[in-house]
Amino acid sequence: MNPTARTAPGLVPSVADLPPAFTWGVATSAYQIEGAVAEDGRTPSIWDTFSRKPGAVRDADNGDVACDHYHRMPQDVALIKSLGVDAYRFSVAWPRVQPGGRGPANPAGLAFYDRLVDELLAAGVDPWVTLYHWDLPQELEDAGGWPNRDTAYRFADYAMLVFDRLQDRVESFSTLNEPWCSAWLGYEAGVHAPGRRDFDAAMAAVHHLLLGHGLATSRMRARQTREHAYGITLNMGTADPATDSAPDRDAARRADGMGTRIYLDPLRYGRYPADIVADLAARGSAFPVHDGDLEIISTPFDVLGVNFYFGQNFAGTDADGNTHDALGQPVVRSILPDAPRTAMNWPITPERFTRLLVRLQQDYGVPMVVTENGAAFDDRPDDSGYVRDDDRTEYLASHIAAVAAARAQGADVRGYFAWSLMDNFEWAEGYAKRFGIVHVDYATQKRTPKQSALWLRDSIAHLRSEPA
Ligand code: FCB
Repeated sequence: MNPTARTAPGLVPSVADLPPAFTWGVATSAYQIEGAVAEDGRTPSIWDTFSRKPGAVRDADNGDVACDHYHRMPQDVALIKSLGVDAYRFSVAWPRVQPGGRGPANPAGLAFYDRLVDELLAAGVDPWVTLYHWDLPQELEDAGGWPNRDTAYRFADYAMLVFDRLQDRVESFSTLNEPWCSAWLGYEAGVHAPGRRDFDAAMAAVHHLLLGHGLATSRMRARQTREHAYGITLNMGTADPATDSAPDRDAARRADGMGTRIYLDPLRYGRYPADIVADLAARGSAFPVHDGDLEIISTPFDVLGVNFYFGQNFAGTDADGNTHDALGQPVVRSILPDAPRTAMNWPITPERFTRLLVRLQQDYGVPMVVTENGAAFDDRPDDSGYVRDDDRTEYLASHIAAVAAARAQGADVRGYFAWSLMDNFEWAEGYAKRFGIVHVDYATQKRTPKQSALWLRDSIAHLRSEPA
């Protein structure tokens, strides 16, 4: 079956607009796919704990088994190879490599990633390592978690255990995945692990995550025995004012500041944005900056990982027209753009993806790779098990076209990783939301490439078959 023949004409050219040297990949993260949470010395992370809290995760799901990738890794690498992608972005589980978050490496934990890297290289797939995708060792949370400054130093020590073992074979090391989610969803909104609700703790977490990134990056660079590409991945959207009113424009400014600028301004320019520092001061809060921190945080990095799912509008009033909430804080209310929705109820806004990438280029001027982009839909296999996911195929095609459009406007985007290789544990949504381009039958662990996977495979092959 040739799925490109079954999808709309015009989808392939969006891929063909990208140069042959562009990096194509698929992405996952450790807790979302590995399972084997108590094997070979792994100890609990904050997600093991959080997912056991009643009501925290839909259907009381957890990552105990997930996609059982820990036991099926060679087959999964063969699957990745069959898609014809160049690279695979995965994360290393801190509690597997350094149980408890301190002390020496656990040899069995490191050995798993060692085998994974070798397996990928043998398959001709470039390993892209993410050091932290949200699975903080529970002991470190018990000691205060990311709001505790010491966690940044613990992270850098852990990073070096991984780096020392893998640097001879791995070129790309990314420190953090989406620190906004770790800090905001984990410590302020309380909807992700560890489920705390404390604004000041969230701001401290932001700073210590950035500090951990800077410490780890400079230590890795100092100890490298070959060239590497160091990076960090941020999730970003677009924050437009819902109307031209002053409160709405101010809400958009705040949302952009808290979502994008408080990360990228210190990373690139060694300072927190003055307007957000003033907002924090107005509510008696601050980033807990020590002398020298911003120099560490702004240590150079080589590639900005961009995770994009959708853009938002913001209003500075609540539904009743109030500009301040019950705690006296200015209202920053997300209003989703009027657009078709995915199964997450996220709007489909590819034109905003182009706008984001062009803006990041202009404001921050660093090479970018799209480290995640994709969509959940309620996929239903047909009687033969085939998943004809026109909606996901369309989502990927329109967003890849958006990348090509951004490049045409000067954005230096060098690669695109689809989220995700396969259906997996979608955090607070458990297994209910399927982001995979490969379907997983959780009862049998059978993997079946969906139409979108075959489309991506054929599109990359088509692009590479074009005369240069
Ligand atoms: C991102 C996460 C990733 C996945 C997607 C849907 O925020 O990095 O693990 O859950 O969203």
